Amino acid sequence: MNICVVGAGYVGLVTAACLTKMGHIVVCVDKDEGKISALSNGEIPIYEPGLDDIIKANKKLTFSTDIADGVRKSDLIFICVSTPNRGDGEPDLSDVKEVAKKIGQAIDSYKTIVNKSTVPIGTAKLVEKIIEENNASSCSFDVVSNPEFLREGSAIDNFLRPDRIVIGTSSEKALQVMTKLYKSIDAPVIVTNQESSELIKYASNAFLATKLSFINAISQICDKAGANVDDAAKGMGLDKRIGSEFLKPGPGWGGSCFLKDTLALVKIAEKYGYDFALVKETVRINEKQQKLIVSKVEKNLKDLKGKRVGILGLSFKPGTDDIRESPAVNIIKQLQAGGAKVSAYDPVAQKKAEKVLDGSIDYATSPYKAAAQADALLVLTEWDEFTNLDFGKIKNSLKNPVIVDARNCLNKEHLERLGFIYEGVGK
Ligand code: UGA
Repeated sequence: MNICVVGAGYVGLVTAACLTKMGHIVVCVDKDEGKISALSNGEIPIYEPGLDDIIKANKKLTFSTDIADGVRKSDLIFICVSTPNRGDGEPDLSDVKEVAKKIGQAIDSYKTIVNKSTVPIGTAKLVEKIIEENNASSCSFDVVSNPEFLREGSAIDNFLRPDRIVIGTSSEKALQVMTKLYKSIDAPVIVTNQESSELIKYASNAFLATKLSFINAISQICDKAGANVDDAAKGMGLDKRIGSEFLKPGPGWGGSCFLKDTLALVKIAEKYGYDFALVKETVRINEKQQKLIVSKVEKNLKDLKGKRVGILGLSFKPGTDDIRESPAVNIIKQLQAGGAKVSAYDPVAQKKAEKVLDGSIDYATSPYKAAAQADALLVLTEWDEFTNLDFGKIKNSLKNPVIVDARNCLNKEHLERLGFIYEGVGK
């Protein structure tokens, strides 16, 4: 099929690349000329394992800034633009609306318009209305809600081998197009109306964030009660109704989606007269969890003022250079507010962190350099390489043998044998 993907951001690029892997012909359009010319030269603006290999030297995938041309030569148009938090919890839909208008102005034959952006209930209907208002040639079209469930770091696999495909449409014709589109993917397909499909995305992310806040809350009890949260999570996770995934405690969840989508769901609920106190508490527990990590460092150093903290990990999780809503960034800011200096190491996220944290921290070229002469070492992202470090060497270069393992990814017994004061999360 001929497909136009609007938006060359994270979701757009992964979608465009994977659609070509499935045999479709794709033009990916974006209004950012710099980005499109870089992509045309094979420069990929994001770090996502496997994406380079698919995009480079791919004859089925082209890049353009001409949305009207992209729309006209395609059977399907994917809307993959961002919907950032407006500041009050509500997502900003201006890019979605602008794209809908341009699609309306350009269509010259039947098109299926697929919305992949995370949008509030009612947005598919709004997109329909905007296209109709601008539809000079009175062509027929359908708008389908087809949310993405991609995880950074494994997005290609998530796209090609998803747990489910959600298709929100009441049009038989659009359903046929979507069924043909995803023919090669073996996954359960949920066909529902646009509103349910839009809600599934928010409900899924808010549920996952709630699961994480739940285990983080349990970890706080474990800290006080002498229980071990890793064992508790294992014991809970073996119950098939609970499941073992998303039960790893940590410094709080991060990433560009969970906070934005939990806050948006609270707003959606408000609009329909429901006070979603549970999801509000999910967000509050997450903020508390970040503060808890800071207090673990503080407790061991008595006072943060004038102390140096070595940080391992800046990205919001391993496998990505993304630092949006990264607990590491918030925790560093809190350490700094307490008067501490920070030296940090991350294998891929340093460049992005520099933009947010400016020159306020020292960037180390290795984990050992981040630890050198620090008063405590704090692990904030569970990159594999951190588990195999020479901790004897690290202990010798630290001023105090204090290690706060905010991801429970290190071997507590081994570190204690080496003479470290080890602080995990809930163990
Ligand atoms: C999340 C969802 O998992 C995807 O399904 C969804 O499509 C995506 O948001 C989105 O809306 O676009 P992502 O933001 O890539 O994906 O990150 P996750 O892998 O879900 O991790 C989120 C945060 O939770 C990270 O900070 C991670 O470290 C933390 N986490 C995750 C834990 O602390 N413990 C766990 O057991 C799992």
